[in-house]
Amino acid sequence: MCGIVGVIGPREAGPLLLDALKRLEYRGYDSAGIAAVGGDGTLSRRRAAGKLRNLEARLDADPLIGHTGIGHTRWATHGAPTEANAHPHVAAPVAVVHNGIIENFRALREKILATGATLSSDTDTELIAHLFAARLTSGEAMKDALMETLDELEGAYALAFAFEGEPDRLAAARSGSPLAIGFSADSVMIGSDAIALAPFCDEIIYLEDGDVAIVSPHQAEIFDSHGRPVVRPRVPVPLQVSLAEKGNYRHFMAKEIHEQPEVIARTLGHYIDVGAGSIRDDTIPVDFSEVSRLSITACGTAYYAGLVARHWFERLARLPVDLDVASEFRYRAQIHPADELPLFISQSGETADTLASLRACKAAGQRLATIVNVPTSTMAREANVVLPTLAGPEIGVASTKAFTCQLATLAALAVKAGVDRGVLTRDNARGFVDGLVEAPRAVADVLHLEAEIERIARIIAPASTALFMGRGPSMAVALEGALKLKELSYIHAEGFAAGELKHGPIALVDDTVPVIVVAPFDDLFTKTVSNMEEIAARGGRIIAVTDARGAHAIGTTAEEMIVLPDAPAFIAPLVMTIPLQLLAYYAAIINGTDVDQPRNLAKSVTVE
Ligand code: F6R
Repeated sequence: MCGIVGVIGPREAGPLLLDALKRLEYRGYDSAGIAAVGGDGTLSRRRAAGKLRNLEARLDADPLIGHTGIGHTRWATHGAPTEANAHPHVAAPVAVVHNGIIENFRALREKILATGATLSSDTDTELIAHLFAARLTSGEAMKDALMETLDELEGAYALAFAFEGEPDRLAAARSGSPLAIGFSADSVMIGSDAIALAPFCDEIIYLEDGDVAIVSPHQAEIFDSHGRPVVRPRVPVPLQVSLAEKGNYRHFMAKEIHEQPEVIARTLGHYIDVGAGSIRDDTIPVDFSEVSRLSITACGTAYYAGLVARHWFERLARLPVDLDVASEFRYRAQIHPADELPLFISQSGETADTLASLRACKAAGQRLATIVNVPTSTMAREANVVLPTLAGPEIGVASTKAFTCQLATLAALAVKAGVDRGVLTRDNARGFVDGLVEAPRAVADVLHLEAEIERIARIIAPASTALFMGRGPSMAVALEGALKLKELSYIHAEGFAAGELKHGPIALVDDTVPVIVVAPFDDLFTKTVSNMEEIAARGGRIIAVTDARGAHAIGTTAEEMIVLPDAPAFIAPLVMTIPLQLLAYYAAIINGTDVDQPRNLAKSVTVE
């Protein structure tokens, strides 16, 4: 959460930093700010609550002067999203922007207040400026003052600093939150990730945990956590991070939903040899015959991808699967058997809890794999085996195409596991591969139902609660559908296993509550239909998401049916997800919420 940028170069810093921040707005959009240092050493800043466009308006009216500066887009942790709490925070001569959380915030605050200093915000970040400034004003050299300040901080941070009286210097530090330094012919930049830096830089250095950098025109001196100078590799800025455009779509989310046939095909193409009808061993460097248990860890939507995949690994490969949300896993008394493969799923590759879980397994000596959409991310760099999803940049904060690409990758992995473990013959495996190859077309067919789904979203949009249920892999799809609806339309939505209906959720059923039932015509279908009958008997308003064979059997039990073309049962989770994404999208549009940037959320959750 929070995006940070910095620049030293020949151009005015304000417009450049604003452009870079626009590319980071997915990390938070509660407030934003920029500080610049003029040629005479004057430090000035502009900040605004709300989205970046508010800051832009302020800068238009009152531009900043200076070629050196830092900027921030915020997802609030300490303190409300007001202008006073917006970064950069200043304690002369230091201005700082921060991504992360300082956990010993209270102790540091008391210490600073005890010196007689006044604080002008409720943030943890302002404290860093005070600690650093006190050392600089007492005459310490910049690097020493910075390292001693960092020693006082507990928690996670990526930091960039500008200094009054120092038009040619910035500083940066990272511990637990990602940070990169970018280089072009005439400028040096600091950024939370390659996305921020891509259009402005040719080469990039990813700082490692504990690194600090002192940046001056044309160069960055980097020191490790012991203060020793280090050389980190300079790599070309990856092309894939060039910012996606909305094209003719009204929202990034609409575009990303519609890209799914293409990106699922691209992802499958990476893992499947379509001609041979088999999984490509070279792109999945894991021998599952040596694995006796899989442990899947992820957050949010990525966790639901794991929940679907558990069924696939158990059924196709007879491989036991442990599954947990990363915020729980990381604090459990974990057990790390040598023959277990830990697998971490993440779109961003930066989610703090998932990364901490990955590091815990690594520290325990396990070889681990990650399914990740951002190839330059920290998880991709730290995992032993990287299994990319080729969804391309996902800008809409609510995940859509990354989820279905995670499913496609996991499905290919499960087939390989089945073959490696001798559970699937080559012929059986071919059947599953053929099913997967159908997925892009099946998803494209569902997109043709968009107008019908938009009509049905009108039933959901006025509701204050909606329920989602399914069985087996469809339960995970139902949970994902509920998450999409709540985050996009702010309607309270609950997903649950259809078999749990009678154990509680049925108390919520009345004629104001839409119940969305994910019911492909699979081996659990008749059980799900019985649950539908129980809802209908209580006046519940059922919206069944099913296929042609299922529709016939459901008959009139449902008030509405979204009837998808028949598809192989194996790929049903991929196909059934699409109408739920569209329902949430259209409910949000009807309710007038911010589809691409729903309130309180951020795309990359880099604090726990
Ligand atoms: C929901 C959503 C989130 C993410 C979660 C994990 O639409 O996008 O639930 O799935 O924050 O993020 P990644 O996959 O980046 O680790």
